[in-house]
Amino acid sequence: MKIVTTIDELRRERRALKGRVAFVPTMGFLHEGHRELMRRGREAADHLVVSIFVNPRQFEPGADLDAYPRDPEGDRAVCEAEGCELLYMPDRDEMYPRGYTTVVAVGELGENLCGSRRPGHFEGVTTVVAKLFHQVSPDVAVFGQKDRQQLAIVRRMVRDLDFPIEIVGVPTVREPDGLALSSRNRYLTDDERARAVWLSRGLVAAHQAYSAGERGSEALVEVAREVVAGAGGDIDYVECVDPDTLRPFEETAGPAAVMALAVRIGSARLIDNLRLDEPLPEELRR
Ligand code: PAF
Repeated sequence: MKIVTTIDELRRERRALKGRVAFVPTMGFLHEGHRELMRRGREAADHLVVSIFVNPRQFEPGADLDAYPRDPEGDRAVCEAEGCELLYMPDRDEMYPRGYTTVVAVGELGENLCGSRRPGHFEGVTTVVAKLFHQVSPDVAVFGQKDRQQLAIVRRMVRDLDFPIEIVGVPTVREPDGLALSSRNRYLTDDERARAVWLSRGLVAAHQAYSAGERGSEALVEVAREVVAGAGGDIDYVECVDPDTLRPFEETAGPAAVMALAVRIGSARLIDNLRLDEPLPEELRR
């Protein structure tokens, strides 16, 4: 595996890769969910490129960027083990040199759900992902469905800005009890971790109601919200939305409804979501 830190080196090494290239952008502190993205990338292409860059522009003002978990040694080992051939680890000055001003604005897709609670977050994501796409020039890029709003926004950006890149969305990887894997889970104390299971249970409750024929979006939200309240956290939102527009259904949940939620438990802000029309994933059936 080659490790590069500058755009020049990256482009030189990228040019040497013949055939299809898959790209997995990450902020590091890699876990099983990232491994799954890398595996899917390898399946979809001949070569795998991974980036690790903790993007300051997607942290809200006042958020503690320095406290974001980092493990460069462990991350390198994970990338190597998953067959990454080119690992790109730029520093902040390489990505945003002095005088940098350009942003990629996301429009209304970035306005609700996490967008309304984390001002500037998605603009930070699209800006860095657009830059990474130009720098890496992949054929395929892989993102997790756990960050469903991010996935929808990246798909839209690729369409609107004509990036010749196929976007692959990968199902959420979960702990055996259903908790979605996230780098932020490490902020949970043992007690908070035990309570966090109520998030996915809330999604399952909404799924069961939907399968039983409930289509009232408010009723579905209420079913989920009541269960999620068991986590004892601070509910940021529980919403029943369209997977493409991310707009909450006003009255009736559509045929491809997604239940999405964000909850603060202790110092961690956890997000999760579930398509209500699809079969429940294995870990959520227990
Ligand atoms: O999902 C993430 O880890 C980040 O938002 C991404 C896509 C790497 C952009 O910084």
